[in-house]
Amino acid sequence: MCCWGRLAAALLLTTLAIAPAASLPPEVDQQDVDWVVGLRRQLHANPELSFEEVETSQLIRKTLDELGIRYRAPVARTGVVAEIGSGEPIVALRADTDALPILEDSGLPFASNRSGVMHACGHDAHTAALLLAAKRLKAVEGSLRGTVRLLFQPAEEGKGGAKVMIEEGALDGVSAAFGLHVMPFAPTGIVALRAGPTFAGSDRFNITIHGVGGHAAAPHTTKDPVLAASMAVVALQPLLSRETDPLQSGVVTVSRFNTGVGAPNIIPQSVNLLGTIRAIDHELFGRLRQRVTDVFTSTAAMYGCNATIEWSPVPYPPLITDKRAVELAMAAAAKVVGAASAVKMPQPFMGAEDFAFMAARVPAAFAMLGIRNETVGSVHGLHSPQFRMDEAALPIGAALHVQFALDFLERGGLDGKGGSAARDEL
Ligand SMILES: *[C@@H]1O[C@H](CO)[C@@H](O)[C@H](O)[C@H]1NC(C)=O
Ligand SMILES: *[C@@H]1O[C@H](CO)[C@@H](O)[C@H](O)[C@H]1NC(C)=O
Ligand SMILES: *[C@@H]1O[C@H](CO)[C@@H](O)[C@H](O)[C@H]1NC(C)=O
Ligand SMILES: *[C@@H]1O[C@H](CO)[C@@H](O)[C@H](O)[C@H]1NC(C)=O
Repeated sequence: MCCWGRLAAALLLTTLAIAPAASLPPEVDQQDVDWVVGLRRQLHANPELSFEEVETSQLIRKTLDELGIRYRAPVARTGVVAEIGSGEPIVALRADTDALPILEDSGLPFASNRSGVMHACGHDAHTAALLLAAKRLKAVEGSLRGTVRLLFQPAEEGKGGAKVMIEEGALDGVSAAFGLHVMPFAPTGIVALRAGPTFAGSDRFNITIHGVGGHAAAPHTTKDPVLAASMAVVALQPLLSRETDPLQSGVVTVSRFNTGVGAPNIIPQSVNLLGTIRAIDHELFGRLRQRVTDVFTSTAAMYGCNATIEWSPVPYPPLITDKRAVELAMAAAAKVVGAASAVKMPQPFMGAEDFAFMAARVPAAFAMLGIRNETVGSVHGLHSPQFRMDEAALPIGAALHVQFALDFLERGGLDGKGGSAARDEL
């Protein structure tokens, strides 16, 4: 997950009931558990950054070859699209594969082999779990009433790999998509889902305010960009406190304010500001982007300066899940972890996730998979250098994927169309 908010995650923990640990999901035996743990550890030891998942992609393809599963690669540079079964409907299961530029400090025996790169967001687990799901689905391929498409997607962390996958046809013909994400603030065995707005849209800005520098003792001869930038940061505050409905959620944060190096008696030529905007609502997200631009442009002008603004090349839209897909996923999750442990996410989060691109394209559900377990040290937040996960969640993640796909195909789609017809043919 990109741009995860620790605070938002803590919120989930406080609102979720602590349920007992789940036993092994049905259909997964100890041999499969060892297999998926081995894969995850191999991925964990060899993390790769966004769009550089070369060995990761090789491992995925090698595993699919061993399982006799057909695939197309490369898709989106380092992605893989595999298929099991045939015909329609087509249901997509997605895992992201990339790691983060973080120096691992987990103390795990299979910690990162690449200094400064770490699977600190559980994408190693997502990939391994989807491979185990592939293995289980391949075993029942003959009875599938349609096609399961497996999406091994690169570059979730800020570079929008999901968008590139879609552009390269990964969702063509797909009727619904399911994804999941490990969640260190919910105990192992919990699965949480939410219908509708689930994660925020996220964009990043890089703003330079250009002025005229000079001696601090003669400020009247300058156009002070420090003053203009300071005023602009303050002028952003009403975008939420006055222009936004108090019942709507949004974030405007200036997180870096850089005047460069220099003597204290010199007013600089320019100031660089970095920050982010977040919103759950599409309309607010678009408006915040426009208003941040307006505020910087006009405040800079007010002080005789000007502003150049760059936005992220791939802003992440809000993740809006589909009610019917979530209902199906919730029922499937209840089969895997028990009804008491398949819970509703009480409110959306301001974190962002590029599965949003897929959910904008086809009906989709996105499950949060609990991995918290103090015994195994799985207590740190996503993106923490100390991040660890309870590997007991791996077979649960795999079983969820399997159940999502089986239930979807069994029903012949979200609205059940073609389900009985397909059954009649058999
Ligand atoms: C945590 O992990 C330990 C050791 O694997 C296990 O015995 C225990 O049941 C787990 N607890 C939960 C909540 O899953
Ligand atoms: C770490 O990298 C080295 C050199 O590429 C390799 O020999 C070793 O097997 C790797 N370790 C793991 C755990 O993948
Ligand atoms: C911000 O934009 C400036 C000017 O284009 C560029 O030099 C700088 O590298 C950018 N910073 C980031 C963090 O993208
Ligand atoms: C921005 O301001 C700087 C400093 O006053 C000036 O040199 C530059 O031409 C201005 N750029 C624009 C596009 O107005």
